[in-house]
Amino acid sequence: MSKRNVSVLLILAILLILVLAACSTPVDKPQVPPPAPEQEEAAPAEEEAAAAEEETAPAEEPTPELVGDSLRGGLLYDKWWTPLGLDAPEEDHPLWAAQDTNTRSGADTWRCKECHGWDYKGVDGAYGDGSHMTGFMGVIQMAGGDANEVLEALLGATNPDHDFSAAMDEQALVDIALFISGELMDYAEVIDAEKAAIGGDLTVGEELYQDSCADCHGPEGAAIDFKANALKTETISAIANGNPWEFFHKMRFGQPTEADMPPALDAGWSLEEQTAVLAYAQTLPNTNPATHGGLLYDKFWKAMGMDEPAGDQPLWATQSTNERSGADTWRCKECHGWDYQGANGAYSSGSHFTGFVGSIGAATMSAEEIASWLDGTANADHDFSAYFDEAATEMMVAFLQTNAVDMPQYINADKTVNGDAARGQEFYQAGCARCHGDDGKGIAFGDESDPEYLGDLALGNPWETLHKAANGQPAEHMPGGLNLGWSWQDLADALAYIQTLGE
Ligand code: HEC
Ligand code: HEC
Ligand code: HEC
Ligand code: HEC
Repeated sequence: MSKRNVSVLLILAILLILVLAACSTPVDKPQVPPPAPEQEEAAPAEEEAAAAEEETAPAEEPTPELVGDSLRGGLLYDKWWTPLGLDAPEEDHPLWAAQDTNTRSGADTWRCKECHGWDYKGVDGAYGDGSHMTGFMGVIQMAGGDANEVLEALLGATNPDHDFSAAMDEQALVDIALFISGELMDYAEVIDAEKAAIGGDLTVGEELYQDSCADCHGPEGAAIDFKANALKTETISAIANGNPWEFFHKMRFGQPTEADMPPALDAGWSLEEQTAVLAYAQTLPNTNPATHGGLLYDKFWKAMGMDEPAGDQPLWATQSTNERSGADTWRCKECHGWDYQGANGAYSSGSHFTGFVGSIGAATMSAEEIASWLDGTANADHDFSAYFDEAATEMMVAFLQTNAVDMPQYINADKTVNGDAARGQEFYQAGCARCHGDDGKGIAFGDESDPEYLGDLALGNPWETLHKAANGQPAEHMPGGLNLGWSWQDLADALAYIQTLGE
């Protein structure tokens, strides 16, 4: 028998003793001892239980003695395994088989929210229909109640299949119990039937949002695309409008996959202030077509979640200097360059040389003219219509007209950058360091045996670095600097700084 099982048995035994004690003494409610932080330390808990037994009967209901962090409990209501540093469960939760309307499986079935809802109302709330419906009850009725009762439910007292003691440590369960009893609120107070914020001062919301959220999500909310798919963009605005309960919960308690996201309750925001931020986030756009177009300029199939094109692009055969083949020959950048200058720029020599024109001419073209290049009207061999629908075409047009800048004004032919590295360091720290590290070595690109880091890329290919720093990286949650509200000079300064991180 494992230590864990032994300690669970011990706790059950203690509970039994307490119940018996409650029958023979005037204590009207069994008092559960605070669980020991480590499973192995059942002994002190036993002592405390004995002490509790000796206590004279209090005049009122004993106050719950659970000690923990209710805000952390809120974070654990979601994907608890991430902040706990555990592996995600693989099997379905034992209770999952009791329903068949929600067809998710595996780890998702272990999230409290998947069964009880972001609004804590289960089948009586937003999960009363739709793909998340399970028919399971909510937990909001436990709000303001005794945390010990919640803890018992989490230890399987009401239903043995609802026993989470093997899934996580006891302190985690205590924190969750404190969250359920102490922090739940009825979101109907702040969110109406149409999902709109009830009230919420937009000026207050904007100020709080710009101060506390914009560093990561961007001033317009477009910096992080949770889906990382140009066609199915899901930014903070999509959550605020589509699932305001999830927005509220995550705003209050944080995001399990992002330790640095500050919980509003930790920051001491009032309910009015929280509502104001929801109201403001609901006004933000869900997309920035121009930076999305920048993602499509690269591996557009990856950015849109499509299969990669088969065979060579038809125009490829009209050149023989660049020896790549297959999907690479479909990337706009492969023919037109990261600097948009084609044979007039960085690809005027070397293994990428094709002799093709740049795409920079599109900066002064009308949307119709640009579209005629994408659908093959301008040149039948330059036909991307199998991949670019209307929405994707719009993005590419927006990119070519506004974000495909004249790079030589920032990057010289010898790859040096016209930027202020000292100033750029601040931008890098604010927008890039949390993933790429203070030294640029947080993420390795390319070959595992011969890793390349951001600083090396910035020295070797400053044009690619600037393009990606501005627009983002296809299919990654990486924010482009333009969505962080940076100007082109800010980007050039950041690039100058990133070069100092290279070898
Ligand atoms: C797979 C679905 C599922 C998951 C995951 C789940 N629960 Fe439950 N929960 C239920 C069901 C079903 C019940 C009702 C059980 C019963 O009494 O038979 C329940 C009951 C409860 C109760 C008791 C409610 C009452 O009024 O008696 C609490 C509290 C609770 N859950 C909290 C949680 C928390 C916290 C989590 C996450 C750690 C969680 N649940 C995860 C399905 C789930
Ligand atoms: C330190 C950076 C950072 C800050 C500051 C930040 N967030 Fe986030 N937030 C993230 C990241 C990263 C994700 C996405 C994590 C992921 O993809 O799983 C995220 C996700 C979210 C989500 C959930 C999206 C989803 O579908 O899971 C919401 C809602 C959210 N943030 C709201 C806010 C609000 C409101 C603020 C300001 C109070 C804020 N964030 C501040 C980094 C941050
Ligand atoms: C296989 C190489 C190749 C690929 C890939 C490619 N192009 Fe082109 N592109 C060309 C060539 C060659 C021309 C000139 C053709 C002509 O004059 O008929 C051209 C012309 C253009 C022009 C007109 C430029 C001008 O100044 O007249 C635009 C705009 C353009 N491409 C945009 C794109 C975009 C956007 C993509 C990615 C979706 C792309 N191209 C992918 C080879 C390519
Ligand atoms: C949320 C984490 C995250 C943040 C923040 C972030 N990046 Fe990235 N970045 C990535 C990931 C992941 C990749 C892809 C790595 C790969 O392809 O192997 C990447 C790739 C890149 C690349 C391309 C490397 C290549 O060879 O394709 C560049 C350039 C880059 N990032 C620059 C930046 C800059 C500049 C910033 C700040 C504006 C930034 N990144 C912020 C996660 C991030």
